[in-house]
Amino acid sequence: MTTLGTPLSPSATRVMLLGSGELGKEVLIALQRLGVETIAVDRYENAPGQQVAHHARTITMSDPAALKALIESEKPMLVVPEIEAIATPMLQELEDAGVVRVIPTARAARLTMDREGIRRLAAETLGLATSPYKFCDSLAELQSAIDGGIGYPCVVKPVMSSSGKGQSKIDGPADVQKAWDYAMAGGRVSHGRVIVEGFIDFDYEITLLTVRSLGAGGQVQTSFCEPIGHLQVSGDYVESWQPHPMTPAALQKAQQIAQAVTADLGGQGLFGVELFVKGNEVWFSEVSPRPHDTGMVTMATQWQNEFELHARAILGLPVDTTLKSAGASAVIYGGVDAKGIVFGGVAEAMRVPGADVRLFGKPESFVKRRMGVALVHADDVETARARAREAAACVKPRVAG
Ligand SMILES: Nc1ncnc2c1ncn2[C@@H]1O[C@H](COP(=O)(O)OP(=O)(O)O)[C@@H](O)[C@H]1O
Ligand SMILES: [Mg+2]
Repeated sequence: MTTLGTPLSPSATRVMLLGSGELGKEVLIALQRLGVETIAVDRYENAPGQQVAHHARTITMSDPAALKALIESEKPMLVVPEIEAIATPMLQELEDAGVVRVIPTARAARLTMDREGIRRLAAETLGLATSPYKFCDSLAELQSAIDGGIGYPCVVKPVMSSSGKGQSKIDGPADVQKAWDYAMAGGRVSHGRVIVEGFIDFDYEITLLTVRSLGAGGQVQTSFCEPIGHLQVSGDYVESWQPHPMTPAALQKAQQIAQAVTADLGGQGLFGVELFVKGNEVWFSEVSPRPHDTGMVTMATQWQNEFELHARAILGLPVDTTLKSAGASAVIYGGVDAKGIVFGGVAEAMRVPGADVRLFGKPESFVKRRMGVALVHADDVETARARAREAAACVKPRVAG
């Protein structure tokens, strides 16, 4: 039986978020609603999630010694990674020593922070369909991987990167050098390894939010949200919508893949399984063992959004993945490089029928930084998408003063 304590008392149920951006902020809010005592960690001060947690801590989460010291002093019951750039071998060590439970597991956090770990698991261990791929450590290896079978077009990504950073498409021999240089500049750590993937000419791509939670008998059960369609520009999400229509055969295949990969990663929590679909064919692309940016749409579409589902699942509480309404999300970018910006047009955005706006409260804006999101519910996805774009466009970030 799950018991929950009283925050700021000796009985508190303490949960630490590693990464406190817009996704972590919503997980923290969901935990706050259950009276959980929250510790929001990020690499900079006043990160969105730190503004809504009981405690804010600022450390370099990729530094194993700093991470260990923080976890040992705060003694959370659960550590919930929100980002990939964390010293995951240290999390593994602390989990093995029984110091803390990592969500969903330390192994899942480690495997998914590196494209190689998760790709080899999915394709080679689990035998799931993926794009053809090779790992390369030099420009020469990249060229020979392409010539040796990957072919054109293909996609190059640093193995340690996210949100499209360092990622580019290669259409022919003339692009190879440029793609290599771009990947070297965009990776999280400078050890220079990339994955090159054959380009999948999909009809559409989805995120299948998959939850591993506890049933009444204490057994883990897997539930799926309705598929989320999304649009990516340069590897970064700009729009998402739910539900995305799928043929029964494609949906079944998608759920089988999501079931297999999440069962292997194990633990409890919500996962964002990214899949490419063409007709009834489905390819596994990647998985986040945590809420997914495209899943922000669930704040408008589900009775329990993805953050509430994650919070409930990790605490051993039951979940309900039922859709409430069709809906869509559209990203609001900073548009300017400045600190402490202001947002005009919020009222106009909210006057769009069915629209809501979330502003993340990031202390510093960049032209291409995600600063907020427009959320819309509507009778159908097409209407919702158009209105979400319209609402997002109403919001005008600008330099203060
Ligand atoms: N092999 C591929 N074929 C076609 N499109 C791809 C391929 N790999 C990535 N993409 C496109 O780029 C987007 C980002 O790639 P992804 O591997 O998910 O990187 P990230 O970890 O940065 O999200 C995908 O959602 C998809 O739109
Ligand atoms: Mg992705």
